[in-house]
Amino acid sequence: MNAAVSFVEVGATRRRSVPDMSDSGPLLDVHGRVHRDLRLSLTDRCNLRCVYCMPATGMRFEPRANQLTADEIVRLARVAKGLGIVALRLTGGEPLLRRDVVDIVGRLAALGFDDLAMTTNGTRLAALARPLADAGLMRVNVSCDSLDPERFPLIRRRGSLPVVLEAMDAAEAAGLGPLKVNMVPVGGVNDDEVESFAEFGRRTGRTVRFIEFMPLDAEGAWDRSSVVPAADVLARIHARWPIEPVEAPGDPAPATRYRYIDGSGEIGVIASVTRPFCGTCDRMRITSDGAVRNCLFSDDEASLRDILRSGGSDRDVELLFRRSVWRKLPGHGINDPGFLRPSRSMSMIGG
Ligand code: 5AD
Ligand code: SF4
Repeated sequence: MNAAVSFVEVGATRRRSVPDMSDSGPLLDVHGRVHRDLRLSLTDRCNLRCVYCMPATGMRFEPRANQLTADEIVRLARVAKGLGIVALRLTGGEPLLRRDVVDIVGRLAALGFDDLAMTTNGTRLAALARPLADAGLMRVNVSCDSLDPERFPLIRRRGSLPVVLEAMDAAEAAGLGPLKVNMVPVGGVNDDEVESFAEFGRRTGRTVRFIEFMPLDAEGAWDRSSVVPAADVLARIHARWPIEPVEAPGDPAPATRYRYIDGSGEIGVIASVTRPFCGTCDRMRITSDGAVRNCLFSDDEASLRDILRSGGSDRDVELLFRRSVWRKLPGHGINDPGFLRPSRSMSMIGG
């Protein structure tokens, strides 16, 4: 048997062993994971420049004409809902920079998702919390990486802590709770604030989620030594206020939950780097320029926007969603020797 024949035979065997993409039923990937959660980025623009996300200057943004319009967003969300997406999270960039955000939220809420949430940096939330809640937004996660008013603007390079704290109060008052606070501890930058954040969460009843620094910063400054492992965060908090895991079997949420034994609430850790949770991932993403992406760390993208703008049908959109999800890799491979950073950084993808 010559080499060419054996290659063909191996290829044929492989093809037979990979099941075909289903074109009906739930949104499945080839590994059997059902996808129910969509992260939809409303814009790649942001009014902050967090050190772990954007460069201080020179960030390049997509031309506005490339951004999805409100009508396109609503149409994609409607098709996604028909495919079994039950949870929708609006991201960015900073989603509240979009002038039509309240209108978009109202139209998305009317589609009837079980969960409709947003991740925001909080800078514009105080004024918008009530209109957003009235429009049907259910919950917000607010990013906040320092409780020291002098350090806060050093990490985020703009903005101010009191504004964000006020926004958290306004969000709760408007009914956008239970509030989660996202904190990214970076070694040598703010990792000394883990206990302060735990104390803040216990005092306010907000769930602080400690997110490991991921190689998604636009400057490419990430290195393993600046990642604060979730296990260290947990050990430090446990030493002060004992915690225990919250049993949540089958929960696809990225955060692993812990509760304080004295009953003072919960924390979460998102250990994307040290303990990847890809095996239970049920998330897909749409970037603000309308690309469907099956993983933060994969450059496998396809433009839904091009389908919409060339007169494609809902069925065409559906098949692109299905194809993208189907091709998802089993894991992000951050810890593999050959790992390559994705070409787009966090704010360009949508967190
Ligand atoms: N690593 C971890 N988290 C990040 N975020 C932004 N960039 C990174 C990164 N490189 C966080 C933001 C926000 C959420 C969407 O993702 O703080 O809370
Ligand atoms: Fe803006 Fe969020 Fe990135 Fe900070 S992390 S620069 S708030 S998009």
